[in-house]
Amino acid sequence: MKTYLVTGGAGFIGSNFIHYLYEKYGDGIRVINVDKLTYAGNPENLKGVENKEGYTFVKADICDRQTIDEFFAKNDIDAVVHFAAESHVDRSIVNPEVFVQTNVLGTATMLNAARKAWEKEDGTYPEGKKFLHVSTDEVYGSLPDDDNAFFYETTPYAPHSPYSASKAGSDLLVKAYMDTYGFPANITNCSNNYGPFQFPEKVIPLMINNALEGKKLPVYGDGMNIRDWLYVRDHCKAIDLVIEKGRLFETYNIGGHNEKRNLEMIRIIIATLREMLPDDDPRKERISEDLITFVADRKGHDRRYAIAPDKIHKELGWVPETRFEEGIRETIRWYFDNSEWLEHATSGEYQKYYEKMYDKR
Ligand code: NAD
Ligand code: DAU
Repeated sequence: MKTYLVTGGAGFIGSNFIHYLYEKYGDGIRVINVDKLTYAGNPENLKGVENKEGYTFVKADICDRQTIDEFFAKNDIDAVVHFAAESHVDRSIVNPEVFVQTNVLGTATMLNAARKAWEKEDGTYPEGKKFLHVSTDEVYGSLPDDDNAFFYETTPYAPHSPYSASKAGSDLLVKAYMDTYGFPANITNCSNNYGPFQFPEKVIPLMINNALEGKKLPVYGDGMNIRDWLYVRDHCKAIDLVIEKGRLFETYNIGGHNEKRNLEMIRIIIATLREMLPDDDPRKERISEDLITFVADRKGHDRRYAIAPDKIHKELGWVPETRFEEGIRETIRWYFDNSEWLEHATSGEYQKYYEKMYDKR
């Protein structure tokens, strides 16, 4: 029975990944979810899996070396799927240190613990062990506004924000472990995800939530920045494929060739919300493009991201299956059906965060 150690499994992509694993493999797996439960970690994301026999939740900080080492000593882990990170660019601009702490030092702690547990006396590793480091396309920096420019696995790293710099640092540590110790790992660099369970600090759920509340839709700068959107389930499928079939020591870029300017993406959300809400819903009338409000730009705002997923397509046969128009409907449907989740996520701390980030913009 394969044992997965998932870090950050109470967050957006990590929880989607755990649901995906159970859908695909049923009860024939063990999943240990290690998560600190920061503001972004939500146990509600794991409803439906928390009572599965092979599922264990451990509340721990990945920077806590003793706990992580003990944990590896006690459990025979086959695959580490390392999601845990501070993930929001705007927060990294306000408070960079915690990004270095979790994303760089936390990854170092995980790598060290896995190496100690897995490395044999002769310096080799048992067949079947793998550390999958989940990273981002933001490590490659920003692309020009040119339809022919893409991020490849060979594109040099050029991060701009403290978030992307800390992720780049963590990627380089994983590369160093592979090169120095022959440590069995893969790195995946993915574009912007959207879908169920995404915390409403990120642009898509933030716009859905604000529109439903009739609040302004804050567009940074001129709204012409481009992001390459991927439905989270397609990302989960790609991660599973890389774990099962990816060549050790390789990096795989993951993206959907689904580039949209922010303004275009927000207009699609507005139109889809209007189409999906019943005529007698009072919120429908309030939702219109008049809510769009241009606000001060993000500092160091990357202009364009766009992934070339040729390698994962050619080597592993991965293709994104969800078109944006379809994925955004699924996502909006999920937020409609989970209004309690959204209420919990946007109460308390979130209000303070929102005031701090947006009131003076
Ligand atoms: P998220 O912020 O929704 O979740 C992060 C999770 O990590 C939370 O559950 C949090 O509690 C946990 N965590 C944070 N610090 C921790 C610590 N010190 N110890 C243990 N757990 C800790 O993030 P996400 O959007 O799900 O992103 C997951 C990973 O995927 C990140 O590594 C991110 O860089 C990467 N990624 C995200 C996207 C995206 O569009 N969201 C795209 C590409 C790559
Ligand atoms: O590209 C992958 C990355 O995508 C991940 O590594 C990050 O973890 C994830 O947060 C995401 O980063 P972005 O900075 O691209 O996502 P965000 O949702 O914060 O912003 C998307 C775009 O929308 C960006 O151009 C900024 C803009 N934006 C964002 C917010 C929150 C707005 O215009 N208004 C907003 O209120």
